[in-house]
Amino acid sequence: TQPLRIALAGLGTVGAGMVTILQTHAELITARAGREIRLVAVSARSRTKDRGVDLSGFDWEDDPVALARRDDVDLLVEVMGGEDGTARVATETALAAGKHVVTANKAMMARHGTRLAALAEEKGVSLRYEAAVAGGIPIVKALTEGMAANGMTRVLGVMNGTCNYILTEMERTGGAYADILADAQRLGYAEADPTFDVGGFDAAQKLALLSATAFGTEVDYDAIQIEGIERVTLTDIRHAREMGYAIKLLGVAALTPDGVEQRMQPCLVPDHSPLGQLEGVTNMVVLEGDFIGRTVYQGPGAGAGPTASAVMADVIDIARGAKVPSFGVPARMLSAPQRSGLAAP
Ligand code: HSE
Repeated sequence: TQPLRIALAGLGTVGAGMVTILQTHAELITARAGREIRLVAVSARSRTKDRGVDLSGFDWEDDPVALARRDDVDLLVEVMGGEDGTARVATETALAAGKHVVTANKAMMARHGTRLAALAEEKGVSLRYEAAVAGGIPIVKALTEGMAANGMTRVLGVMNGTCNYILTEMERTGGAYADILADAQRLGYAEADPTFDVGGFDAAQKLALLSATAFGTEVDYDAIQIEGIERVTLTDIRHAREMGYAIKLLGVAALTPDGVEQRMQPCLVPDHSPLGQLEGVTNMVVLEGDFIGRTVYQGPGAGAGPTASAVMADVIDIARGAKVPSFGVPARMLSAPQRSGLAAP
């Protein structure tokens, strides 16, 4: 069997994590994929930075778009980030050239996911984004594979580890919001611009992707009513606790008679429930289907190991020949999203 030849665009936390997994588990991955997965070329902003991984043996490209069109590459791993710009151009270039793409880029997918999925389909290749949603938790696979026979009714959960950390630490330590945010940034989970975390936007991008995958609708980020945690005070948290509730930044996408309603906002959840008990930089996603009922997934929503683990799972799946459509159904069958009255801006 021919090896699957991959190119890696981006050598930040996730990219370096992927190289580490590939090098640590070369045999196991070959066995599970049924063929060798060979990293042939990489691109990153700096060639000289020490990333703690051995990068000898790969070709370097300065331009990710040139990387995406190399003849000796079957699959592009895009872990550069950014909604538009180089990441999107590299992704489009790879797909147009008939190469698979695995991405961790939630911003790009939340904006352009439907169109990119359609392009992948037209070219007969796969576009997968497990790592973009809840990091290491295999939540897209749970929806597209495990629950493939269900009509989904609701998807909800805590989808931003930084916000969950801030909310739980505010209560635990009584500390100031700004100090705790600085701690979260030191832990390496927060976005470069933490407004994306605390404003609810990072979590909303994930919700848009989960919602499309669960309900078979086009990705509709703009339909989400978004409120972050900036206005949640320690007094709010303490009062909620006195009444038996915890405050969580909850994303909810639900099927209503008017269509799919998507909301991202601080919510009261019973403090003895799994969501109420969730502490630290963790994600928890609840999927509800008409035949399976309620299922709950918890795990690390960010970080090198978990996110790279999700990237590699997609790569292995493609190496095996899996042809799972990006959003569970072919892009041309995704229905135009109906916005319920409540979700309308
Ligand atoms: N900043 C995100 C979080 C991680 O705190 O969950 C990746 O989306």
